[in-house]
Amino acid sequence: MTTKTTTSVNSPFVTDLQIDKNALPKHIAIIMDGNRRWAKARGLKPGDGHRAGAENLQNIVNYCRDIGIKNITVYALSTENWRKRSLEEVKGIFGLLLEIVRDKREEYTRSGIRFFVLGNFQAFPFKVKRAIKKMLDIVLDKERIKFNVALNYGGRDEIVHAVQNIIKDKVPANKVDEELISRYLYTSGQPDPDLIIRPGGEFRLSNFLLWQMSYAELFFTDILWPDFTPKELEKAIFWYQQRDRRLGK
Ligand code: FPP
Repeated sequence: MTTKTTTSVNSPFVTDLQIDKNALPKHIAIIMDGNRRWAKARGLKPGDGHRAGAENLQNIVNYCRDIGIKNITVYALSTENWRKRSLEEVKGIFGLLLEIVRDKREEYTRSGIRFFVLGNFQAFPFKVKRAIKKMLDIVLDKERIKFNVALNYGGRDEIVHAVQNIIKDKVPANKVDEELISRYLYTSGQPDPDLIIRPGGEFRLSNFLLWQMSYAELFFTDILWPDFTPKELEKAIFWYQQRDRRLGK
């Protein structure tokens, strides 16, 4: 690893922790867990936890953009959440998404945040699909970070979707290799995550980025997502930079 240099960027979140700006993860993925417990501990409703989580998410994305991370993926709604959570809760998450589109579109355009969705959002209500499309259509002068939001996303579902499309495209069996499968995933063209973070105290991956996580470093913490501030992320990046990434060597 090269000599450590503190990130010298103009961001309100950057601390004096010695993270090496030459060895940042290219792609950070986060399972945003613990919103409801965070709310319950404060006598609030589950939706208040998701709102606090959405506010924290904006700080995290801005921080990543400011220090030079090029890709961030967050798990906002799994295929299982979509099927099993109450209509009220799912509607609440859609409401937060609509607010992001309403309030952040201009800021994303100005500050180089390119929005992507990973997952099958075709079954969503028309208003939500229209809002997603509005975000996907943003044209940036200068892209600084790709921001992937996983919505109705499941790692297995993504692989099924890829295989179906490979068959539809009549790709001959001898042309199917790892590189081709990667191109058929929702993350097509983006590097695999180097660092996957799960706040909220659970030690599982919950069907997240199953193909892409092959060599990711996995960081778990008990801190609940709304409290996983940029300062905590900086500690996770510091931890990541201490790993000996042999990548099979
Ligand atoms: C998991 O915590 C979190 C979710 C299922 C929703 C995550 C959504 C947000 C943070 C809002 C951001 C929204 C968008 C659209 C970008 P949990 O509810 O399972 O919490 P628990 O483990 O405490 O029960």
